[in-house]
Amino acid sequence: MASHVPAVTLPNGSKMPMVGLGTYQGHGDEMRRVLAWALECGYRHIDTAAAYQNEAAIGDVLHEWLSSGRIAREELFVVTKLPPIANRAGDVGRFLQESLTKLRLSYVDLYLIHDPVGLKANSDDGRPFDSEGNCLLDFDTDLEGVYKALEEQVDAGKAKAIGLSNFNSKQIERIYKVCRIKPANLQVEVHVYHQQKALREVCRDFGISICAYSPLGAPYMVKGSDEYPILLQHPVVTSLAKRLGRTPAQVLLRFLIQNQILVIPKSTNQERVKENFQLFDFELSKEDMASLEALDRKGDGRIYDFKEIFKGIEKHPEWTFHIPY
Ligand code: A2P
Repeated sequence: MASHVPAVTLPNGSKMPMVGLGTYQGHGDEMRRVLAWALECGYRHIDTAAAYQNEAAIGDVLHEWLSSGRIAREELFVVTKLPPIANRAGDVGRFLQESLTKLRLSYVDLYLIHDPVGLKANSDDGRPFDSEGNCLLDFDTDLEGVYKALEEQVDAGKAKAIGLSNFNSKQIERIYKVCRIKPANLQVEVHVYHQQKALREVCRDFGISICAYSPLGAPYMVKGSDEYPILLQHPVVTSLAKRLGRTPAQVLLRFLIQNQILVIPKSTNQERVKENFQLFDFELSKEDMASLEALDRKGDGRIYDFKEIFKGIEKHPEWTFHIPY
């Protein structure tokens, strides 16, 4: 059913479907429902993370589909991530095993370091914050060491491929220099307002594919104004959508796909889950692509620098945004 979805071939030969289901902020029964709808539409690439705290809900649905024979493990492409509170070489094996147990899988298709910043968990609730809400930074983060521990998980058969998320170009280069197994993928914020052209070029040179999170511009995070409308409501996007008989979301996602960027939109609505997957029966022309390319706001278009979510994160030497890309 999902065979018509184009895929990116990773260095290990596995195929990563270009559209996946994003699951950030999905929980419990709602997550179970959304994932079941997505699998029914043909989604086979599922993106989660230990930090999203939804791996167990996802595992329930995967188990149901796998054990009933509705789907074979080889058809799925499951991605999860090492949480920042475990950014230490000695923690990688235990945290990946915890993720696998929750997902009810023996391996993941791709395991990413979620963020270059290392955090510490407090002893009360295990969250990386002190009593004043400041995040607890681990200044000893050794990214090269953490990555080597991920490579050992590939050797152990628990991750088919490994990669990075929220890393900047210099951090990617450092990993590239010491790695034995090439990072297969970089997951970062990419959308029409934040096209990440410079970082994409770096990754192209290293042969690292890019997966866009918040490909619709995270509409729940931004207010929008006349000068800077919510991306889904930008007149260039809406008029293109109208002319093509598509939705604004489909236009935004198709723009990324035509730039060879994988996308993981998330939605809690069944119709929108479906619509976000219907991207391969139309094409944007060169002129359409150029009109969307012109909306790039470069660094100003970035939504996530994590300073609001993790108070004080910029004090960490590995904070991604010490440099422009
Ligand atoms: P909802 O769950 O109500 O569908 P991003 O992936 O860029 O972070 O965006 C996710 C947000 O975009 C969610 O709040 C989701 O809301 C909304 N969304 C997802 N798909 C669509 C769509 N096809 N059209 C409009 N909004 C969408």
